[in-house]
Amino acid sequence: MNTSEIKKSKSALKALQLSKQVSSPEGTLTILDHVSLDVRHGESIAIVGASGAGKSTLLGLLAGLDVPSEGKIWLDDVEITEMDEDGRAALRANNVGFVFQSFHLVSSLTALENVMLPLELAGAAHAAEAALEAIRTVGLERRKGHYPHQLSGGEKQRVAIARAFVVEPTVLFADEPTGNLDNRTGDTVIDLLFRLNSETQTTLVLVTHDLNLAARCDRVLHMEAGRIEKDSPGATKDRADSGRDRTID
Ligand SMILES: Nc1ncnc2c1ncn2[C@@H]1O[C@H](COP(=O)(O)OP(=O)(O)OP(=O)(O)O)[C@@H](O)[C@H]1O
Ligand SMILES: [Mg+2]
Repeated sequence: MNTSEIKKSKSALKALQLSKQVSSPEGTLTILDHVSLDVRHGESIAIVGASGAGKSTLLGLLAGLDVPSEGKIWLDDVEITEMDEDGRAALRANNVGFVFQSFHLVSSLTALENVMLPLELAGAAHAAEAALEAIRTVGLERRKGHYPHQLSGGEKQRVAIARAFVVEPTVLFADEPTGNLDNRTGDTVIDLLFRLNSETQTTLVLVTHDLNLAARCDRVLHMEAGRIEKDSPGATKDRADSGRDRTID
């Protein structure tokens, strides 16, 4: 087995019996109820389900942005649920890319500077060159000096995606990456995500209401009232990388 085969056979992300309770005026509310999952390196996963099912909550926990009430999470075989906030922040900086539904770009920084930010936080050398390359990949070189308010919704989404993958994360999480986009821009963003997935083996975990996007993923997890009710294969199997070796152990 060569190195890339070994990498593929390991878990990129694993969760065991995750629960999340929050307090509300009506008392304690369980918004995530004993969720377990195992995502392989290079896999693409869509999380679907009705509004309020717990999709964003699950994504935030898996990315180490929030902590579960119960359960364990491993990212690249490192248990993040044992870490403190500083430890999780350091792991996030190097292993996780996150695309928020509402982009979360820094308004006082240009497109290029937004993409440079995670590299600078991670202390990377050649941040400017790598950020420029990422901006080119998302087709925004001519907009690199624009501030977020000077960009369209689709352009902001692409900057957010460039910022998420520029650190070459183990897992790229995206919460409704096409939610605010017209069909054509949405397709461009989807193509971009799957190109990253096939070219760099970036593991994708996507929350989406977009059935086209879900169908292109290797697996679709259906959530209902804080639980994963179904784990099924994606519908489309004509992707260029569909024949790749996906080791199951
Ligand atoms: N901090 C909180 N306090 C109380 N309730 C919360 C909190 N965060 C989330 N919830 C509730 O938990 C449930 C799940 O929320 P979540 O944002 O994960 O849903 P979702 O599946 O992403 O929905 P959508 O598709 O609308 O984005 C919702 O009913 C929400 O109101
Ligand atoms: Mg949500």
